[in-house]
Amino acid sequence: MKNLQIHLIARPQGLPSLDLFQEVEADVPPLQDGQFLIKNHYISLDPAIRGWMNAGTTYIPGMALNAPVRAFTLGEIVDSQNADFKVGEFVNGLLGVQEYAISDGKGVSKVDTSLGKLSWHLGILGMPGMTAYFGLLERGQPKAGETVFITGAAGIIGTTVGQIAKLKGCRVVGTAGSDEKCNYLKTIGFDVVINYKTENIAERLAADCPEKISIVYDNVGGEQLDIALAHLAMGARVVICGAISQYNNAAIEGPKNYMKIVTARGIITGIIVFDFLNRYPEAVAQISDWLTEGSMETKEDIYEGIKQFPSVLLKLFSGENFGKLLIKI
Ligand SMILES: NC(=O)c1ccc[n+]([C@@H]2O[C@H](COP(=O)([O-])OP(=O)(O)OC[C@H]3O[C@@H](n4cnc5c(N)ncnc54)[C@H](OP(=O)(O)O)[C@@H]3O)[C@@H](O)[C@H]2O)c1
Repeated sequence: MKNLQIHLIARPQGLPSLDLFQEVEADVPPLQDGQFLIKNHYISLDPAIRGWMNAGTTYIPGMALNAPVRAFTLGEIVDSQNADFKVGEFVNGLLGVQEYAISDGKGVSKVDTSLGKLSWHLGILGMPGMTAYFGLLERGQPKAGETVFITGAAGIIGTTVGQIAKLKGCRVVGTAGSDEKCNYLKTIGFDVVINYKTENIAERLAADCPEKISIVYDNVGGEQLDIALAHLAMGARVVICGAISQYNNAAIEGPKNYMKIVTARGIITGIIVFDFLNRYPEAVAQISDWLTEGSMETKEDIYEGIKQFPSVLLKLFSGENFGKLLIKI
């Protein structure tokens, strides 16, 4: 059986170019004892992939060259030599950009398909949803009445954080890169939305958030983080989730306004979602309940065909994605 894979063949400098990727038709080897074969249905395109393309180790090692690009996928078990993983079950994990993957079960999670749409298990019920849930609730510690400011608010993490913050009784403010995205954020309950490409964020925060910001949930970094730091309420928590504005830069620009943390007696904290792996079931069950009762919704942006992977990945950095970015195989 043939297995179409997309390999990374060289590391990017700046924004990745399409020639860094190569289509490879590999053979699917026979299963060894303890292994099972997964037919991937969806590939998740996440900003983290850009960081993993670099050499060296951050919270995990950079991805290997001349091997399938590291990405979360969701697939169905189609053959098994492992009694714990049965044919017909669905799993997700870092299985790479390829049609088929072989696993021994390590790092792979079973998916309860009764909890929501299959593709949601790579989005709001998957790694991004977990990041939003634990990043806001554990790191941000929201209290009713507080104002939460979310950068990159129209993405899968931003929209999930915003809706959870509303459920916790907070006032929610977010930035996004188009009027269409800002209008969508209003429909899901955001109180204040700012188009960072056409509006002055500092002026809008001064006008619309005189109470100042108690929680910054930062997906973007750079200038937006600096502006947020200048508007902190006393005791503010700044949750650094990501810095997508910086991922294609040779060096990440750190915050200039960090002394505002001192004045606000605030905290800057980071989240790595994998630290909460053993608590994923609790978050999946809670978010699934919110989705079922209609107090939360999610948006997806799905493309067809594994060969499109390199060009679809770039949409994360141009802002062309609107919702959880996925490829359906
Ligand atoms: N710490 C963790 O464990 C963890 C886990 C997962 C993800 N993350 C981080 O969470 C963040 C959000 O991820 P996501 O999956 O929800 O992605 P996403 O927001 O769905 O997609 C990325 C969005 O970022 C915005 N963007 C791109 N370049 C930008 C720039 N230069 N300045 C401002 N905005 C820019 C674009 O939206 P606009 O149209 O609004 O510009 C784009 O649609 C990322 O930083 C990611 O690395 C962290």
